Amino acid sequence: MALTWPENPRLIGTKITRLDGLAKASGRAKYPSDTRPEGTLFAVMLYSPHAHAKIKSIDTSAAEKMPGVKAVSTIAAAGTTLRYQGDDIAAVAAETEEQARDAVRAIKVEYEVLPHVVTEHQAMAEGAPEVFKGGNVRKGRAQTKGKPDEAMGKADVVIEGTYSLPVITHVCLEPHGLTARWDGPDKLTVWASTQAVQVVAGELADALGIPVANVTVLTDYMGGGFGSKFGADVWGRTAAELAKKAGRPVKLFLDRVQEHLAAGNRPSASGKIKLGASKDGKLVAMIAETHGTGGARGGSNFPLPYVYEVPASARTHDEVFVNCGGARAMRAPGHPQGCALMEAAMDDLADKLGVDPLEFRLKNLAPGDFHTPIHEGEVKIGAELIGWREKRKPRGQNGGGPVRHGLGMALHQWGGGGTQDKKVSCTINPDGSVELKAATQDIGTGARTILAVIAAEVLGLRPTDIISNIGNSSFPPGQPSGGSTTTPSMAPPCLDAVTRARDAMFKKIAPAVQAAAEELELKNGQLYVEGEPIMGWKEACRKLGMASISETGSAAEGLASVGVGGCQFAEVTVDIETGVVRVKKIVAIQDSGLILDRLTWESQVYGGVIMGLNYGLFEERIMDPETGVMLNPDLELYKLAGASDIPEIVVRAYDPPDQRARGVIGVGEPPTIATAAAIANAVTNAIGVRVPEWPMTPRNVLNALAAASKEGKA
Ligand code: MOS
Repeated sequence: MALTWPENPRLIGTKITRLDGLAKASGRAKYPSDTRPEGTLFAVMLYSPHAHAKIKSIDTSAAEKMPGVKAVSTIAAAGTTLRYQGDDIAAVAAETEEQARDAVRAIKVEYEVLPHVVTEHQAMAEGAPEVFKGGNVRKGRAQTKGKPDEAMGKADVVIEGTYSLPVITHVCLEPHGLTARWDGPDKLTVWASTQAVQVVAGELADALGIPVANVTVLTDYMGGGFGSKFGADVWGRTAAELAKKAGRPVKLFLDRVQEHLAAGNRPSASGKIKLGASKDGKLVAMIAETHGTGGARGGSNFPLPYVYEVPASARTHDEVFVNCGGARAMRAPGHPQGCALMEAAMDDLADKLGVDPLEFRLKNLAPGDFHTPIHEGEVKIGAELIGWREKRKPRGQNGGGPVRHGLGMALHQWGGGGTQDKKVSCTINPDGSVELKAATQDIGTGARTILAVIAAEVLGLRPTDIISNIGNSSFPPGQPSGGSTTTPSMAPPCLDAVTRARDAMFKKIAPAVQAAAEELELKNGQLYVEGEPIMGWKEACRKLGMASISETGSAAEGLASVGVGGCQFAEVTVDIETGVVRVKKIVAIQDSGLILDRLTWESQVYGGVIMGLNYGLFEERIMDPETGVMLNPDLELYKLAGASDIPEIVVRAYDPPDQRARGVIGVGEPPTIATAAAIANAVTNAIGVRVPEWPMTPRNVLNALAAASKEGKA
């Protein structure tokens, strides 16, 4: 019989506390950065103080003689070009972190400082210094659909806007890094803060020339990754080398400054967008020229048009290189940018058409697209919860006085499908313990708990009865925690493994309880025969005798799916004298097929909204064009929301029976997409003029008001 999710689940879809919640909240949980195996040395990186420089010479001899120093590794050599502040140069391992820091300062590097570009403005200027040979702007090819110029010519109403979002950084609570211990000449154990234990194991094995079977990467817990922690990284490989040289374990985690500089960022996005509609409110054409920077790395493209049906469009995207650390994937890569630009233009066009932007959006969803009924259902619920019909006033009609009130909204979409090649093993022991194993990890989503919920459901136990062992690269192949793919990849093989283990157990113990295997059932911690409880779970397991049952499960058809919608609404107040924006309320409606644990699911949505709120209100990497350094590489000047900035957040799952029937879909990324867009639209609604630059800081709000007042608009 084909494997299916239970029809009337006892646990699945309910709110279940995280298995490791208490350990995390109490500080008992040991994160990779807490791990200090016996004899651990502390390593510190030396990284480039310059945005662009050539190393003329490097001399580590004084550093090597400093107190406590056990090993020094150089990463860059004389002649190496450093392309951003934070570029890797060397690392020192010493008895204490302070000794390592002192020794890093004693490394003598002579730099030939080269001219830099750290802003897009600098990079795109005529005759600008080059990050790489061949120019700082890589022109993208035009992507065209239909005949956009012709269609635009026929539009009744056209808006043209320029919108932009800055580079932001990941700001993982736990920094990037790992602790490495050699257990013999070619055997390595590593505690890494990573979202992909098996990727890190593979990269370390390659770099160190040892079989991957000899590398064990452990990640019991991790303090956030968001797309920036998939690999071993230069510093991780260096830590393993230092450990080898010193013959002692080495712990190397970045400091907060280098976190901001070198551990990834979300690329910027700027766009000149022309959007046209017919007077009955149907989009007819979009013409967009966009650019963005992923630092010295690229990868700044994003989806546009986004969500809505645009019959004719032309889009070019130019990649701009600057002397800054490279971009990495960041929670729904590209989508927050595409969403913000598209939704700003949509709102501006609705305003010019004189129609309700909510109705305008619904009218322009793609007919026949599976997202459309999802979005329609979600918008209906969200509009009620924010009070759209009663409270929303047309743009700029939000009363007099300095504090203006506004509502805004935005839609998003994401994939979140699983892979088919991952495995989970399930062992049932004669003592009644149940152990799941998979080489996936819990990036904070609740992955560990989800697997236990599935096992407990099938075995009639409590989730706390299950030992959910993940975060070990030597376990059966598991999914990297990226792209919202972990749960849809791991839940099906988990269901398969536990079902197989249960069936094997039934077969084995049936004779001992004088019943046929088909007559056995597990419920409420009891073994049932033909509907009657006959013994407890542990007693039933003792009938296994000496041998455990161990089964490995694989993906199966129909248990997972791909593709979600989502919509968010924001309510804000804006003080037009100070430019201060306060977000009062966010409403987030999200679908993701079958929800396994409603509590961790909701936490994902809350977390996504808070991350989006930061993108909307506060975050920006500020580079100094003169010196080429980042001006806010800390947690004081790099602004994030504090508790008092967090609004009322109303989260609702959109999971009617037809959505549940789709199976499991990931939810990690989608809920962070639309927030910054919805906030900006609410700000615009409140003050009557578009704030074209994110974040919605007093500076950007007041600049927009000043520009509009110069033009006589406000
Ligand atoms: Mo995600 S940005 O694929 O961790």
